[in-house]
Amino acid sequence: MFEKDPTTRLWAVSSVAAFLLAALSYFFLFGQRSKKKYKYPLPPRSGYGFLETFQHFNSTKLHEWTLEVARTRGRIVEMNLWPLLPRDTLYAVTDPVVARKILENPRSLKPRELYEFFDRMMGGVCFISEEGERYKHPRKSTLMGISHANMDDMLANIHAVMDKWIQDNLGSEEGDVACVDIGFEMQKATIHSIGLIAFGYDFSTAEQEFTSNALAKITYEFGIASEKNPLRKHPIIGLLWADKREAIRCVEDVRCLVRKVLQAHRNKSFEEQKKVVTLNSLDAPGKYDEIGGEESLLSDMILLYAAGFDTTGYTISYALVELCKNKDIQTQLRKELLDATQDPKDKKLIGSPLLKRVVKETLRLWPVAAGGGIRRVPDKMIVTSDDGKGGKRLMTLPKGSWAHVAPYPLLRDDEVFDRPDEWLPSRWENATDDMKTAFMPFMVGRRSCPGQLLAITESEVFLARLVRDYEWTLIEESIPEWSVTLKIKGTILQATKIG
Ligand code: HEM
Repeated sequence: MFEKDPTTRLWAVSSVAAFLLAALSYFFLFGQRSKKKYKYPLPPRSGYGFLETFQHFNSTKLHEWTLEVARTRGRIVEMNLWPLLPRDTLYAVTDPVVARKILENPRSLKPRELYEFFDRMMGGVCFISEEGERYKHPRKSTLMGISHANMDDMLANIHAVMDKWIQDNLGSEEGDVACVDIGFEMQKATIHSIGLIAFGYDFSTAEQEFTSNALAKITYEFGIASEKNPLRKHPIIGLLWADKREAIRCVEDVRCLVRKVLQAHRNKSFEEQKKVVTLNSLDAPGKYDEIGGEESLLSDMILLYAAGFDTTGYTISYALVELCKNKDIQTQLRKELLDATQDPKDKKLIGSPLLKRVVKETLRLWPVAAGGGIRRVPDKMIVTSDDGKGGKRLMTLPKGSWAHVAPYPLLRDDEVFDRPDEWLPSRWENATDDMKTAFMPFMVGRRSCPGQLLAITESEVFLARLVRDYEWTLIEESIPEWSVTLKIKGTILQATKIG
């Protein structure tokens, strides 16, 4: 055919040559380590190739792998995701001092492309993936509602949730025994409280169960399955997968539910609306006009709703599991709580020093946001870290590269924490400066978690009430799995009412 038509032959040959040239240029430009000369060399490579790195990043064992990388390859290493990303773009940073420096720099921005999966989960653009004006208003509204100024309201709502949950799930007479799937149940209870606190909405038990199940499907599909197989992200080809179709249905149903929550708020009197600080501020007239209108408001509400339950629900669950495994600490905590006050709703109850150490140590050993976050390094940094050969050396983190800060390896750093894989609340009695620097389960800086005051208060109140009046025993333990958060569904605990 080519011989008959020289023009076609010329086109074919030049197209193949152009393709080869483009592929080679891409390889030479981005597929090799940077040739740029730095006084101090770049961080060492992780030693994992593209396929292994890609698979681990999109696996339910991501947390374990990040820990293995930090312990065996170094605290600052280059992650190879070429050809998806040029070389020397992504660095795992689990050195506490360097991670803190990057996070606390107000010019460290989030690379939008790495947060887009959140938008797919919410069914629209939400503020976690955004910078600039798009994130300022919703973040400010969240912080207004979840603040010390609003503490009495938060406490009243959290106690109301606990009253109902205990009444529905646990015995009330001395010696009564009940078994619960603790991860699932704590999710339901925390959905109830984020609904009351952020939206002034009383989610029914059916709505709590629906949310928990829907979010599990959504996070798995958009946080793991679609990331592992990019074909699933395609709007038409992706529909070939039944789980993807199901996840899309779940997103639509969650949006419908949140629309109902917003409508319920708007139907309230002006005085009633004012009491719901976060939603009232979010929904203030004109605030979303320039940033996507009501659809963006709904996406932000779903973000608050989703970020606000699963994380805290699992933190409380991990703490209870550890208390079952450490009965002496459970007994000591109960005694401290009972000595503090006889009134289960007295603020003194959450002043117990051991309770605070239990929550802190649980956040350290089981940081539910184990995957952490990513920031663009705003300026070239010269840092000291592991050289990959058992020593330390100075190295350069290039300006514009991406730093992946994962709390799981950071909070189990064996240079900072003695016996890092053990749950030891007593370690916080005399915390060293290094421990304080490394402790960032909510990250730090401008984009750290705006819900941390609620997360800590809720964990303390739930645990105080559950441990004071019930003896907890581990019946069946499941293995934690990561998909956006570190989940432990299927762990069964037994609660026996104490007289
Ligand atoms: C133990 C419980 C919690 C943990 C460990 C946790 C952890 C985190 C972490 C590490 C981040 C930063 C992610 C990044 O930098 O990319 C984050 C962000 C966020 N968290 Fe939490 N969180 C918890 C509870 C909550 C609660 C109760 C809320 C309720 C409102 C919440 C809402 C958010 C939001 C909206 C963001 C995004 C903030 C932004 O992009 O500016 N979180 N959380």
